Amino acid sequence: MVSQSALGRVAVAAQEDAAAAAPRTKLAVKNLTISYGKALALKDVSLEIREHEIFGIIGPANAGKTSFLKAVNRMDMFTTGMRVAGEIHFNGLDTRHLKNVYALRSRIGVVFPLPVGLPMTVYDNVALSPRLRGIKEKAELDVIVQRCLTRAALWDEVKDRLNALGSLLSGGQQQRLTIARALSQEPDLLMLDEFSIAVDPVTTMRIEDVLKELRKEVTIILVTNLVQQARRLADRTAFFLNSECVEIGVTEDLFTGPVKDRRTRDYVEGRFG
Ligand SMILES: Nc1ncnc2c1ncn2[C@@H]1O[C@H](COP(=O)(O)OP(=O)(O)OP(=O)(O)O)[C@@H](O)[C@H]1O
Ligand SMILES: [Mg+2]
Repeated sequence: MVSQSALGRVAVAAQEDAAAAAPRTKLAVKNLTISYGKALALKDVSLEIREHEIFGIIGPANAGKTSFLKAVNRMDMFTTGMRVAGEIHFNGLDTRHLKNVYALRSRIGVVFPLPVGLPMTVYDNVALSPRLRGIKEKAELDVIVQRCLTRAALWDEVKDRLNALGSLLSGGQQQRLTIARALSQEPDLLMLDEFSIAVDPVTTMRIEDVLKELRKEVTIILVTNLVQQARRLADRTAFFLNSECVEIGVTEDLFTGPVKDRRTRDYVEGRFG
């Protein structure tokens, strides 16, 4: 005969297993409204992003996509006139009340539309963040630099040019260097803002493959104005339009399933934007 307490323990263990198996929330945004002076950039957006998912954000120009990323990263602190209302919880922490915003930003890697190379060598671009974390040993830095450049699909092309200036690489290589640098932060969350704007289609595909691999380790927010890129990569996608989050859904549903708002299907099928 099985005792009640043994049954209770089994039930609790089952609940714990279910909790462990359920995807954790990486980012929870509630009633987020962003404005610049009197102009509204994003209105009352609520969404949750799960750990290890690739979350797409699509939408035409001026939709508020970049503003969303800036709010997550607390860039409003450094942007004149930018006001953020609502809640953003990162790993369960309310980012509005953080004492150390730099600690938050060190957990979030950001890749902008155009590669922003630091004026230093390929090696130093990637070693900077580990050095700031206190890693001084050359051998240890070498391992990190090689690992990050490999994960960004750049190592083979630059392994003999580590001491060249990053700015001497091609545009596509510089964008991958930016990704390697973001990875060297060991981020929890990687946010890419139209990364392929200045990158050729072959390199874009290589970076897309890199992102598919990276999702095992990090959560990714992929802002893209290429709807097919969201379709290839994102588990779920939000459609932003004119400061509004029109729809959030499983990405494939936005293309082929029932949509809540006709504008979503019109946009993904290229009827406007
Ligand atoms: N620093 C700023 N100061 C004033 N207004 C801004 C600032 N940054 C963005 N905006 C305004 O906020 C609105 C949303 O801009 P945002 O850059 O978030 O759009 P987006 O969806 O990223 O567009 P795009 O696809 O062109 O990059 C726009 O009207 C823009 O002019
Ligand atoms: Mg933008």
